Amino acid sequence: MTINFEALRRRFPVLERKVYLNSGSYCALADTVRDAFNSYMDDRLAVGANWDVWITKNEAVRAGMAQVLRATPDEIAVTASASAGINALASALEFTGPRNRVIVSDFEFPTSAQIWHAQERRGARVVHVPRAPDGYIPLENFARLIDDRTQLVAVTHVCFRNGARLDIPGIVRLAHAQGARVLLDSYQAVGALTVDAPVLDVDFVVGGMLKYLLGTAGIGFLYVRAGLIPDLVPSNSGWFAQQDIAAMDITANRPSASARRFEAGTPPVANSYAADAGLKIILETGTDEIEARIRALTRRCMEGLESIGWSSVTPAQDVRRGPMVAVPSCDAAGLFARLMEQDIVTSYRDNNIRATCHFYNSEEDIDRFVAAMAGHRERFRAVC
Ligand SMILES: Cc1ncc(COP(=O)(O)O)c(C=O)c1O
Repeated sequence: MTINFEALRRRFPVLERKVYLNSGSYCALADTVRDAFNSYMDDRLAVGANWDVWITKNEAVRAGMAQVLRATPDEIAVTASASAGINALASALEFTGPRNRVIVSDFEFPTSAQIWHAQERRGARVVHVPRAPDGYIPLENFARLIDDRTQLVAVTHVCFRNGARLDIPGIVRLAHAQGARVLLDSYQAVGALTVDAPVLDVDFVVGGMLKYLLGTAGIGFLYVRAGLIPDLVPSNSGWFAQQDIAAMDITANRPSASARRFEAGTPPVANSYAADAGLKIILETGTDEIEARIRALTRRCMEGLESIGWSSVTPAQDVRRGPMVAVPSCDAAGLFARLMEQDIVTSYRDNNIRATCHFYNSEEDIDRFVAAMAGHRERFRAVC
């Protein structure tokens, strides 16, 4: 199927005014996502507490997310954030025995390391896998630290600082060979790359809907492999995590048989309208097609930057990057502001400008970004 990306682009009005290379922070707003927010408001005005529709929306998000991850709805918890999913999972793990280690990488988003450090007072020992001198984290570095004391390897899919993609199949093989499980933080990848949970063979996946899944802030997901659910009972719970939500039983905790046991209270209702609409765009477009489109755009961006003598720090190999191209600068904040004055929206972390692409970006967006960077080259060298 050939996708008409030009027509899809017209559904994101901000793209008429801006070169929007900031989907790694917050996606551009689509027409149908905006309509979805409006329909939530309309429902409030027309019906007030429209619980039946609200629950249907939440279940549509669960089903859509399952389709994106090529999983089943029973393996998906709809959460308020990625952090909420990680916390719920952490609360179901025990760290008192010899298998008390959690391996994280140097590329983690803060939340995904901080929550594991928060388990130290429950007996967890957190081990950080360092990067190699070239800035990447090769498999050997994981192999050195994953052993029979490892309970969980909690790794990011794509690094939020530099755009590097880890070798997830390799890490999963190492972890499973030692009897450890793998939690993939796919927030910087899901929606931009195909994330097939069963094929990747990961045990858990977390993420959220405000970036490449085209939804909004305040809603996320946790995938838990079906076979693991019965033995994982979170102490982080609530009425929406119960087997029978309507039972209103205050005498016991009876967790749902599905991954819903990792949820807690009232679902993020308004956000589920938007998340459902965003997921529909992703599913209609197809993640393989989106991935291929983004790969071509990031490659064009890296080659363009190379041609102006300002190489990115993101690995050039296709398998080692996702939707982000990170460009070093001695004044990333100043460069970000200059680009913004030129209607080019990026973001920055550490000393990197982050240009993050989605399928709605065009070749012209990339060329305008590179041309603007060329204009700032003398002032913003990587080495100051
Ligand atoms: C890789 C990654 N993980 C986790 C998060 C945090 O997610 P949340 O705020 O939903 O907990 C982010 C947010 O930017 C992220 O990029």
